[in-house]
Formats: sequence, structure tokens, C-alpha cells
Amino acid sequence: MPRRNKITIVGAGNVGATAAHWAVQKNLGDVVLVDIKEGLPQGKSLDLAEAGPVMGFDSKLVGANDYDATADSDVVVITAGVPRKKDPVTGKFTSRDELVETNRKIVSSVTKEIASRSPNAVLICVSNPLDAMCHVMLQESGFPRERVLGMAGVLDTARYKTFIAMELGVSVQDVHGMVLGGHGDTMVPLPSHTSISGIPLTELLSQEKIDSIIARTRKGGGEIVGLLGYSGYCAPSASVVAMVESIVLDRKRVLPVACLCKGEYGYDNLFLGVPTVIGAGGMDKIIEMKLGDKEKAMLEVSANAVRDVVKLLPY
Ligand code: NAI
Ligand code: 2OP
Repeated sequence: MPRRNKITIVGAGNVGATAAHWAVQKNLGDVVLVDIKEGLPQGKSLDLAEAGPVMGFDSKLVGANDYDATADSDVVVITAGVPRKKDPVTGKFTSRDELVETNRKIVSSVTKEIASRSPNAVLICVSNPLDAMCHVMLQESGFPRERVLGMAGVLDTARYKTFIAMELGVSVQDVHGMVLGGHGDTMVPLPSHTSISGIPLTELLSQEKIDSIIARTRKGGGEIVGLLGYSGYCAPSASVVAMVESIVLDRKRVLPVACLCKGEYGYDNLFLGVPTVIGAGGMDKIIEMKLGDKEKAMLEVSANAVRDVVKLLPY
């Protein structure tokens, strides 16, 4: 009997619940939401299910505090963890790296629960610090690298494209480009590979303007935390769902995704955001594009920043 795609989202907080929202609105499959907070995943699922008759989706939604309902999922998104926050007294933000120890324990236990029940799923990590948490998921699941992916580049690229479109007064749909590297302040936007419907960005904006867009992109997460007092979730969850969609519909989209590099771009055994073809089995392949010397140097800085966090893991 044909079955619908089954999408599990662990962490029914801001990113997780909003990802469920986008996923059912796109009719991508049935969704199981899991969270440790009693009532939260159940309440979010029911509320969303009740929007179905109005919005015209018929995905089944289940909320749970344990993992039985997640069995045989096709895709599992892990957003469980503690987000960045602004301290109301000092005004200081939690850095992504400060989250490492807390979120490592959470991601590790969640991954074990998931992997034992959905041994064929594609896993997407969202929890921060992103690239390091991908290593935790790979280690704890024992899955091949093709099925352990991290979401960050789609979000960072979306922010980059938004700022370019705002500056030029053009549709975001016509901005093409990518942000590679780790999910942090050293991420690597690629202006030399960015175009507006094929017209090179460098012909349309001054270097000074491009530099300020790059700086804003790199601080994009922090800008939202500064405004809201907690981290953004609309663009992050939409970015997750772009990956989920490419997997469940086998669309083979080319997206910047955190993948375990095995020699690609000169990196070995390191998760880094790279251009990736995403399909039913997860990562179909990593595309190796030609980078200039400056871009290679920026990628190296970003890779070193990821390595510094990965070193904190007990593996
Ligand atoms: P949130 O606090 O709104 O939601 C997190 C949820 O995880 C909470 O509901 C919490 O109860 C749940 N949780 C905690 N421990 C759990 C466990 N052991 N099992 C199941 N659920 C558990 O946070 P938000 O804003 O949704 O962010 C989630 C994570 O995603 C954070 O680590 C954040 O830094 C990260 N993030 C990453 C982005 C990226 O680009 N990779 C973008 C935005 C957020
Ligand atoms: C972001 O970039 C906090 O990583 C999260 O919004």
C-alpha cells in the first residue's frame, strides 16, 4: 500500500514547530513532532492540524514526548536544544560555541533514539553549534555521511540574497549565489559566483556595498537575536523545509549543505557547508567548484573555526 512521506521533527520550539507548519502547508507528508516539554508537541500538532481544513492540507500530525511514533521516518530534523539568547542584564549574546556542551548531550541522546527506530532516515541537524552537532549526529547514528546533513548554508544564503535584493530593488527570486563554510561569523559568501539573473553582482554593486552585505550576512543570526532577544525561526525553518522537500520529492536541488567532507575542497572528516545535490538518499554528491585564492583562504579560516569547536567534542 502506498504510504505518505513521514517527517519527524524533534524539538517543537520555534524552529521545529514552524518547520512543521511550512512542511504541511506544502503537503510534503505526515509530521511527527517530538519534544521533552509535556503538552507542547501535542498542542502544536493539534493546533496546526486544525488549520488543515482552512488551508487545504491533509497531512496527519502527531505530537509526542517519546519516540515510538517516529518509527520508520523518511526524514528526521533535529532542532532540539538550547537557542542563543540575549542576557537581559549584560546584553551579551550566548555564542554558538557556548552552546556546545549542553546541545551535544541533547543531540546525542535524541540521535540514538531516532537511529534505533528509523535506521533508513535522512537526518538533518539544525541544533547549534551546527557543524559540530553534525559530527555528534554522525557519530551517534552510525549512518553513512550521505544521510547526515546540516542546515545552515540555505539560511545564510537566504539572508545574503535578501540583503542583495533589498540593496538593488530586485526580486529575491532573481538573485543567485551561495554561502559556503561553517555556520558562524567566518562563513564564506561568494560574490564572484553571485549573479542577478546571470548579470554578475560585481557589475551592479561597488566592492564597498558588497563588503557591507557580506558583513551583515555573517552577523545575520545575531542581528535577529539583537532585535527579538531570541533567535530567528521563520527563515531557519523555511530553509530546513527546502532540504526536506528536495529529499522527499527527490528534487536533486543544488543547495549549500553542511556535509562531511572526505577530501572535497581539501578537507577530510570535517563537516563544512559545500554545494551539494540533495535527493531521496540525502546527499547525492558534493559539487566541487573552482574557488579563487581569496575564497580558498576564507574557507580555510571558516574550516579552522569549525575545527576549534569540533575539538571540544569527546570523539
Ligand atoms: P526553542 O527553544 O524554541 O526550541 C528548542 C526545543 O527543543 C524546545 O521546545 C525544547 O523543549 C526542546 N528540547 C530540548 N531538549 C530536548 C530533548 N532532549 N529532546 C527533545 N526536545 C528537546 O529553540 P529554537 O529557536 O527552535 O532553536 C533550536 C535550535 O536550533 C537551537 O540550538 C538554535 O541555536 C538552532 N538554530 C540553528 C539554526 C541554523 O541555521 N542551523 C538557525 C536557528 C536556530
Ligand atoms: C541563526 O543563524 C541562531 O544560528 C542561528 O539564526
